Amino acid sequence: MNSCSQSVLPPSDQIDEVHPHTFIKVRILERYLNAWSAKFSGTTDMVYFDPFAGVGRIKSKGSPNSEADGSAIAALRLFHNHRALKNKPVTIRVFLNERETPRFHALESRVSEIKTLVEDPLPEQRLKVTVFNREYPKVIDDMFHDLQIIPRCIFSFIDPYGYKDNTFEAIRKLLSPQKGEVLVLFCTFAIAKVNESSYRVYKEHVANVFGLPIWTPELRADVNRYRDQLQKCAGAKYTLHFSMRDNRDRRIYELVYATKDFGGLKVMKTVMYSMSQELDREMQDFEFHFSDFKTQRPERGDTQNTMSDQAHKACAECLYDHFQGKETTLMEIEEHVLLRTAYPYFIGTLKAAAASRFILSAESQNGGRRPKWNTFQSSKIRFASHSQLADDLASMLRNAAGQARRLRKVDDFVEYAKFTWLGLAYTVDEIWTEVKLVIEDLHRQGKIICDMGRFSKATKPGKLPVKWTNEKEDIRSYFGVSSRRIQTDRQKMRQHPYADERKVRVLPSGPSGERRDRGVLEGSEEKNMEFSRNSQEGPSHDTH
Ligand SMILES: C[S@@+](CC[C@H](N)C(=O)[O-])C[C@H]1O[C@@H](n2cnc3c(N)ncnc32)[C@H](O)[C@@H]1O
Repeated sequence: MNSCSQSVLPPSDQIDEVHPHTFIKVRILERYLNAWSAKFSGTTDMVYFDPFAGVGRIKSKGSPNSEADGSAIAALRLFHNHRALKNKPVTIRVFLNERETPRFHALESRVSEIKTLVEDPLPEQRLKVTVFNREYPKVIDDMFHDLQIIPRCIFSFIDPYGYKDNTFEAIRKLLSPQKGEVLVLFCTFAIAKVNESSYRVYKEHVANVFGLPIWTPELRADVNRYRDQLQKCAGAKYTLHFSMRDNRDRRIYELVYATKDFGGLKVMKTVMYSMSQELDREMQDFEFHFSDFKTQRPERGDTQNTMSDQAHKACAECLYDHFQGKETTLMEIEEHVLLRTAYPYFIGTLKAAAASRFILSAESQNGGRRPKWNTFQSSKIRFASHSQLADDLASMLRNAAGQARRLRKVDDFVEYAKFTWLGLAYTVDEIWTEVKLVIEDLHRQGKIICDMGRFSKATKPGKLPVKWTNEKEDIRSYFGVSSRRIQTDRQKMRQHPYADERKVRVLPSGPSGERRDRGVLEGSEEKNMEFSRNSQEGPSHDTH
């Protein structure tokens, strides 16, 4: 736990000596506030409240060079430097509080100093800071009194020592505004001890933390119960937690985030996930955590591209487990990822699902342009079911020859690929690389005639002609070895071979999307025959 000094040193010498997890706590807060500021910079009132602000500066025990901002000063520095806040007419009200008077003076002096340390600080009328020397939770009323109205958008960071001051009633009050959010420290270790203790007064405090009139042995006083309570009785719609562990890898406290805003949940999950991953790449259990036991610390930086390819694949598998055989929307997919998996939500997961053939079709509504995952919020996404996997593979094998023979120039191959699932899963450069392989492969097999000398020098697709050698020959064996299985509406294809294709089907192959070997595919031909016997028309191409 922190060991904030109580001595009466000059303000500039008052620096709290802390354990490594305290730096992580401040880092999580900073990263979230960065996104929070960008998100709400368009609104007129934003309030940041830090009622356990400390002295504003921290350093690692026994390591003088490790000095960093504490929560209050980190937040102020971030607001002064934030690009979105500079350009918008928003006013940010910051309320800081510290009960211990000498520490309050140290904080006050750092608050004045920070304006001189940042380049181009926000003017006072845009960033208004009030520093209180009061007692929490009473200071909440002081803040609301000062504001005169209940603000719409308020973020509170509640960082007390222990659990005694952290009352449920106070958290409920802070969550009550329309966009009220809290990041609150829940003292797991101490509360677990109270569960075993017989001291009545401790039990009363714990009951207060949970917002219950009385503590009973049945009260499972742990973080999950706390999150439940926040959702049931304090107005929070979503909650998350991040565990902090000590140098013996024991859970000491959890940072619990509570909000009514789905967007906030999305950001905080990304922040906690990325922080956890940066600290412990081997982490398997996906309970977001940091441990002093592993002293390595993450670098600063943004939270983009935080998921590895492996994580995207694993998350795509979760989606497939849940949605297989169903039609859904991007909104539902996003909600499922954020609320019921361990992962944050990124488009990369959908690309991984398409590449693994879990997605059967995606109906684009963007007027004939190449579909993009992030532009068709309302489109319907169909996930493959097990039986569809076999049917579609057979059907693709049956139909591929006719379609492919319509491709008469190298360009045509690329255009065709863009309007199929390849267009969803790959960039144009990647498609071109794939198409090159297809053409070389077909040429090697004697299925097409193409000037391979010119072709091999081409850096981009062009009008180079491609002639099919034997119109009657079935090229299903070629597509059998390709990793790319595609099937489109043949009727439409005849009318306008490539550009007007709206409905696309993504056809599944092996779970990893690797090329299949010939042996496996020759086996699949049997299914094709079987399918042909059962249906003259083949499976419906309608993607609804
Ligand atoms: C864990 S430290 C805060 C550290 C700070 N958030 C940071 O990042 O540096 C808790 C601080 O709250 C103050 N404090 C403790 N109980 C309080 C109360 N009831 N009201 C206001 N301040 C309190 C302590 O003096 C201490 O400075």
